[in-house]
Amino acid sequence: MSKVICVLHDKGGCAKTTTVVNLAFALWLLGKKILLVDTDPQCNLTDTIDKTVHKEADSTIYEWMHDSKSGEVLSFPIYTRYEGLDYIPSSQSMSNINAELQLMYNREHRLEEFLSVVDPESGIAIRDMYDYVFIDCAPGGETLMNTNALVASDFVIVPTEASIYNLQGLPRLLAYIDKVRIQLKAHVEILGYLLIRWNPRRAISREVKAYYSDINEVKAPLFPIYIRECVRCNESVAYEMSLFEYSPDSTAADDYMRVAEYIIGRGTRPHSWTPQRWGQLANAAYKRFIQERSKTEKE
Ligand SMILES: Nc1ncnc2c1ncn2[C@@H]1O[C@H](COP(=O)(O)OP(=O)(O)O)[C@@H](O)[C@H]1O
Ligand SMILES: [Mg+2]
Repeated sequence: MSKVICVLHDKGGCAKTTTVVNLAFALWLLGKKILLVDTDPQCNLTDTIDKTVHKEADSTIYEWMHDSKSGEVLSFPIYTRYEGLDYIPSSQSMSNINAELQLMYNREHRLEEFLSVVDPESGIAIRDMYDYVFIDCAPGGETLMNTNALVASDFVIVPTEASIYNLQGLPRLLAYIDKVRIQLKAHVEILGYLLIRWNPRRAISREVKAYYSDINEVKAPLFPIYIRECVRCNESVAYEMSLFEYSPDSTAADDYMRVAEYIIGRGTRPHSWTPQRWGQLANAAYKRFIQERSKTEKE
């Protein structure tokens, strides 16, 4: 059974896209089939996966959400980064989608319906062709597009920075998720809070961790692995790379790999599964991707 997971927080810059990219690549390196869905008009996820695509693609998440009639998808905007690691790009037109969805009858359910469309060749629903589907959300909280992401998802991961704003925003986020669950009968659950830019030397980091450890207060578990502060997160994006190609032995690469292992329920890591090994695999795939792309550009 596939799992659809959205990464949501109403704040921008709190590592939603970084989490989607690195968790997805880690799960792919662990042998899982992945689909990434970018819903943010800023296209940060799309740019990290393939800068050239959304500028040239005539079919993106926007055309899918906007033009297709419910249940009928004329062309699937699904592209491949590596074999088993596919993505649906976003486009800047997504900045209009919330206003446009207002006028549609199934406005909260379009993404869910599209991910359930059956591929005529294989007879399998799109979401079921993958082990994990990750949806990267735009900031801005309670929007129709974010509601679509929640309704389409089995789980939500909430990246959690050590800051006072984060603590202040949590009741609003929990109320939003509850409203989607109750009023739209969505089955989405919080998979966990993921501590980001973890730095145990800072008092605020320790305070936020203690707060999120109280499950009665925050209603869902804190992932037992924290993502450490790591400048490689920012650098890797410029090269269209995840941490696993750019800096496989960085602290954050190790942390995201551990979160991925935790999600699939893998116990103790085998001795052979080292940063050198996953770096080799990721870099070999990256080389093939760049070669294929330059071949296509020449044609
Ligand atoms: N663990 C980390 N350590 C240091 N910088 C990080 C970390 N995670 C993310 N960042 C940086 O924070 C910025 C915002 O992250 P991003 O994933 O784009 O946030 P969002 O998608 O929530 O807007 C980016 O420059 C990113 O590289
Ligand atoms: Mg983002």
